[in-house]
This record gives sequence, C-alpha cells and structure tokens, in this order.
Amino acid sequence: MGVTCVIGLQWGDEGKGKVVDGLCREADVAVRCQGGANAGHTVVVGGRTSILHLMPSGILRERVRCMIAAGVVVDLDVLASEIEQVESMGLSVTGRLMVSSRAHLVLPIHRRIEAAAEDMLGDEKIGTTMRGIGPAYMDKHGRFGIRVGDILSTDRLAARLDLLARLNPMAGRAPDLVEEMMDYCSRHRDLVGEIAGDVEHDLGMSIGRDERIMLEGSQGFLLDIDFGTYPYVTSCNTGVHGLVAGAGIPPSSVDKVVGVVKSYMTRVGRGPFPTEMEEPYHSLTRDAGREYGATTGRPRRCGWMDLVALRYSASLNGVTSIAVTKLDTLSRLDAVKVCREYECSGGRTHAFPADGRMLERCVPVYGEMEPVGDVEGISRLSDLPAAGAAYVDMLLEAAGAELEFVSVGAGRDAVLRARH
Ligand code: GDP
Ligand code: IMO
Ligand code: MG
Repeated sequence: MGVTCVIGLQWGDEGKGKVVDGLCREADVAVRCQGGANAGHTVVVGGRTSILHLMPSGILRERVRCMIAAGVVVDLDVLASEIEQVESMGLSVTGRLMVSSRAHLVLPIHRRIEAAAEDMLGDEKIGTTMRGIGPAYMDKHGRFGIRVGDILSTDRLAARLDLLARLNPMAGRAPDLVEEMMDYCSRHRDLVGEIAGDVEHDLGMSIGRDERIMLEGSQGFLLDIDFGTYPYVTSCNTGVHGLVAGAGIPPSSVDKVVGVVKSYMTRVGRGPFPTEMEEPYHSLTRDAGREYGATTGRPRRCGWMDLVALRYSASLNGVTSIAVTKLDTLSRLDAVKVCREYECSGGRTHAFPADGRMLERCVPVYGEMEPVGDVEGISRLSDLPAAGAAYVDMLLEAAGAELEFVSVGAGRDAVLRARH
C-alpha cells in the first residue's frame, strides 16, 4: 500500500490533524517529518479534543506505530508533557513511539534567541510561534546543533553546549546558559534512552514489508522556506519534498500525496494575504470556525479561497487527492467569494508571485459563488447541497486532483468519504 504524504496547501491549520487521524484508520505507521512544536494539530474523538505539537496524530489510534523523524526539531520539554497528556487518556506510548537519534534538539537557548530576534526586527518581525524553531534550524544548518542522540554521549556534551553558546552571541552572556542546557539534557536523558532510535532504518524495513505509512506534514506549503511567502515563512520545507527528506525515505516509495484544503484561507502571524476578508465576514468566519491558534491561541486572519495559491501549492507538490475541511464553517456565511486570478502591475495573472512585495500589490479578481447551503449533520457526499458540491468540484479542478473526503465538523466522524 506504500507511503501517503499529507500536507497543508495553505498557510497551516488546514485541519491536517483531523485528516491524518482519519486516514490512520488504515495505517500501520505514522510519522512527523519536519517542523517542530510550532505545529498544533487538533483531533476530536468522542467530544474529547487533543492538540498534538510533536507526536504524529496517529498516536490516538492504538494500533499505529509512531515516529518522529530526523527532519523534525524536537523540544523534549514539549514532547515529555505530550507523552503524559496522551498516557493520561489511557493510551500507551512507550514501545509505540520512536524519535530519530538524528533529529536536532530545540534547546532553551533557541527560544531566547528567537525572542531577541523578533524584538530586534521591530515592525519587520515575522510573528513566529516563539517555539525556537528558526534558531534550532539555524544551528542545524550551521553544523553545530545538538542532536537527540548526543544526549546519551555525556563525554562530549558539555563541550558541544559550550560551543553552541559561544556561537550564538544573540543569546546574551548569561553565565548559567550552558548549565541551563545541561540541566535540560540531564532531565531528559532517561526518556531519550527509552525512545531514541534509528527511525530511518525502521521506516526502510516497513517500506520493505509493504506496510501502510502515513507521513504527516506540519505547517502549510505557503509557509515553506523556499516556496512560501518569504520571509514570512517557517524555517523548513513544508511540502512533499520536506516530508520525504525529513523522513529519509526514497521519493519513489511515495504513492499518494493528499493535500489538505480548508474551505477558506487563514493565516497566523504577519505576511501578505491577498484575499483577507473585510468585515463583517472576517469576524463571522473567525467566530464560526473558531479560528484561534492551536499552539499560541492567537486569532487567525481569515480570507476567501484563493485559487491562484491553491493551484500553485497543488501543482508544486503533485497532489493526487485533496481533503476539503470546514465546509460547515463556510456554510454559515450568506455570501461566498472566490479569487480566480490576480490583477498585478496593470495585467491579470494566474501565477503566484515569487516576491512577497509583489504579492502584497496583487489585487484578487473575485467571482461570486452561491452560498454553500446547510451541510451540518449530513453523512454522505451525495447529500451535499448542489452549491456545496459545486464548491468542492471547483477546488478539485483547481488542484487537478481526486477527492479524498470532505470534512463537515471537527469530530472524527464528521467526514463525507469519496471512497469507502
Ligand atoms: P492543523 O494544524 O492543520 O492540524 O489544523 P488545526 O488543528 O490547527 O486547526 C484546525 C481546526 O479546525 C481545529 O480546531 C479542528 O478541530 C477544526 N476542524 C477540522 N476540520 C473541521 C471541520 O470540517 N469543521 C469544523 N467546524 N472544524 C474542523
Ligand atoms: P500547523 O502544523 C499556522 C507560522 C507562524 C509564523 C511563521 C513562522 O499547526 O499548521 P515559526 O514559529 O515556524 O518560526 O513561525 O509560521 N506557523 C504556523 N501557522 N500553523 C502552523 O502549524 C504554523 N507553524 C508556524 O505563525 O507566521
Ligand atoms: Mg495547527
């Protein structure tokens, strides 16, 4: 059955947690491949809401083995409390979760540096999640980062931490910096001893056994470090390329790429957003969709569907199917607009510009659509109101993909499957 990649096609928070949980019904292994605890993936089962930052959303299905691969930057404080959270639900984690010893650590120094950098940027700040993600990736690419496996080699750790502090002058000269990091490493040494391993080797074996593997993307493609709205992006590749590289699997083993598409756009933090809504639709959408960050609680900016952006994300990732989420939220609006192209520098274009400042100057050319119609409580795709079905068809055409499913509520069962 092979490898399925699940990626967000917008600016994150598309509903990847729910989609991965749904697809893990039929998976053996679930893997987080990139990003870190900047992610907040929500899964609602039987009225109980879980927000996962580092563990794959497959952890809520007891049969599924879970892995955090080399491309993830791991904050062990967050992971330890997440393990507690999941175990308090009566689910076993030990023996079912492995973290790559190759993955880099997010250390206390990284959060400090991020706070200082955002402060220095002033009006130009990115509006990050403050989870230390950018600085952790900087150290990794600078080749002086500390990896999960390093925690176990005590002889070299103190010297490596000292070097890290000296190479990061922005962290300040606090005398207890190295001690603080040493404490962090000591605190988590037993946990690392239990769960660190050769994820990449295990994944290779799983592929060889033809197991069903779910690679869970975090963030969204428009936040990709290379292809997103730079500099208002995260610090890694968030598309299918990032998943494959982060998991360390052969690209040829991927046989399905599922793009998650929220029925409207949202964005947290700063950066260009051509279809950002005006009032009253902005507040109506935020309230109806409860659009507040799962990681930071920040209110999300809301906008109309942007087909230029969707075509761009879908085509660069070669998505084979899409999962459409939050159609129930869109159905609460009495008007629906869709951006089909941009007006930019005196002409019309279907191209998503590489330059963020250019994107800021793009004016969306909207088409009006029929309001979606009431979708709440329906359980079959064929029961979608005609306008709702037409909206989904429009997204499929823009993405050039098949339908995986339509989601009409936060709960695990609020799913209209295209195939059974
Ligand atoms: P992720 O980061 O892509 O996993 O998405 P988040 O969990 O950050 O945000 C998605 C939010 O929408 C969560 O609160 C989900 O519980 C919720 N959600 C997902 N799908 C649906 C849906 O179809 N309808 C509604 N009303 N809520 C949904
Ligand atoms: P999930 O996986 C939405 C955004 C931040 C900020 C930018 C850089 O839940 O979809 P960072 O902390 O990564 O350096 O912040 O990226 N961002 C997200 N927005 N969902 C996410 O993850 C995000 N992860 C990062 O708001 O604009
Ligand atoms: Mg999220």
